[in-house]
Amino acid sequence: MAATQHSPGTISPDRGGDATPPMSGAEKEARYREVRGQIAAVLEGGTDLVAGMSTIACLLDQAFPHFFWTGFYRRVGPSLLRVGPYQGTMGCLDIEFGRGVCGTCAERRQRVIVEDVHEFPGHIACDAASVSEIVVPVLDAEDRLIAVLDVDSTRPAAFDEVDGRWLEEIVTLLRGLDDASVVWR
Ligand code: SME
Repeated sequence: MAATQHSPGTISPDRGGDATPPMSGAEKEARYREVRGQIAAVLEGGTDLVAGMSTIACLLDQAFPHFFWTGFYRRVGPSLLRVGPYQGTMGCLDIEFGRGVCGTCAERRQRVIVEDVHEFPGHIACDAASVSEIVVPVLDAEDRLIAVLDVDSTRPAAFDEVDGRWLEEIVTLLRGLDDASVVWR
């Protein structure tokens, strides 16, 4: 999808939480610690990868009002990412490795933090409301890249090392979960 403006599915342009005050570093640490515990508790009984990703996207979105778009791009080919699960406005469906912030993270297998997406060459504007962004790699138990976790904010420079560290820790909770997306039939 080549959307550069609000997509047709955008029904809640104020979901960026701009009315809430910015969190201090200590508040952010405490919130991440709490939400990491919630996610671990939900996933503890065992589930599959898509349910795990859905849980992470949901609980992060609920925990941080300034998260405008929170979710995964799954690796569906040698160098292709596909959207979902996510919380937020309409996301573009497919991203090739090397393209945009997500594709750059996938190619490098490294965290990418962008303070102002307008300054990032090749940034893919799924929703023009996004201003800053963090993307972290998701690796399986054999250290293969299986997805990236992307979080966008309508605030400039919303993400830092604290977010990077916690988001990377949280996605390790997906390690070992089966991909059961082929349903029983
Ligand atoms: N901005 C991203 C694309 C994904 S969306 O923001 C949901 C990028 O440049 O990779």
